[in-house]
Amino acid sequence: MSDTTLFADAAFGNSAPLLHAEDHAVPHYLRAHYWWAYIHPRAVRLFERQWLVNLILWGNYAQLRDAALAELGESLAGRTLQVACVYGDLTSRLCRQVASGGGAIDIVDVLPIQLGNLRAKLPQDAPATLLPMDSSDMNLPDASYDRALVFFLLHEQPRHYRERTLREVLRVVKPGGKIVIVDYAMPRWWHPLRYLWRPLLALLEPFALDLWREEIADLLPSLQGTAKPRKESFFGGLYQMVVIKP
Ligand SMILES: C[S@@+](CC[C@H](N)C(=O)[O-])C[C@H]1O[C@@H](n2cnc3c(N)ncnc32)[C@H](O)[C@@H]1O
Repeated sequence: MSDTTLFADAAFGNSAPLLHAEDHAVPHYLRAHYWWAYIHPRAVRLFERQWLVNLILWGNYAQLRDAALAELGESLAGRTLQVACVYGDLTSRLCRQVASGGGAIDIVDVLPIQLGNLRAKLPQDAPATLLPMDSSDMNLPDASYDRALVFFLLHEQPRHYRERTLREVLRVVKPGGKIVIVDYAMPRWWHPLRYLWRPLLALLEPFALDLWREEIADLLPSLQGTAKPRKESFFGGLYQMVVIKP
């Protein structure tokens, strides 16, 4: 039997409606602003192309993916959590690192169609469990993971949602573990995209600019007393990787 388990069956196909039986569980911001990117079956077929994701990230996909994977570690024993699916091969690579360390990985996403897409991308023997859950309210035990990855999720969420997600990730990662967050940040003053990208981002991803204005660490009052998060900037500051050690 495959180790790759999907707890709830993903309902999708050619004639799939836009949303499914689990509609009530889909956060409002996803339906309102991201249906075209993640919910519609045609969107999944369109965006599941690494070159396209790379284009959206201005050619930085591989660098950001590899920075996150290197930060997590080459060979991952214990329990790893990835909060939210992503297009491209990040999760397949992460699963290889987990397999080489003899560990296990859980991947949470609120959309069954995304979990179904991920299941199709992963090898049968990937040590992965796919969990249909909301990042802001994960039905997972306290301090049960050695590490967690949150890759380009926070910018999609309204502030109160983002805070709840971070609180949940902090809750489920063990003290002494590691949380790696990769997302947008404010580019430097000289970066042309600071001026050109801002209006488009504001239009397409209305909560993303929050991360230009506010440090991720400042969203986490519960971090006081733990080691100061480490922040690394990429591509003139447009992207950041924040590493938290709870
Ligand atoms: C993590 S972002 C990744 C964006 C990035 N552009 C990529 O490479 O795909 C998109 C994923 O987050 C998931 N997501 C959004 N809000 C969520 C939430 N509250 N709980 C769990 N998953 C969520 C979406 O369903 C989608 O699969």
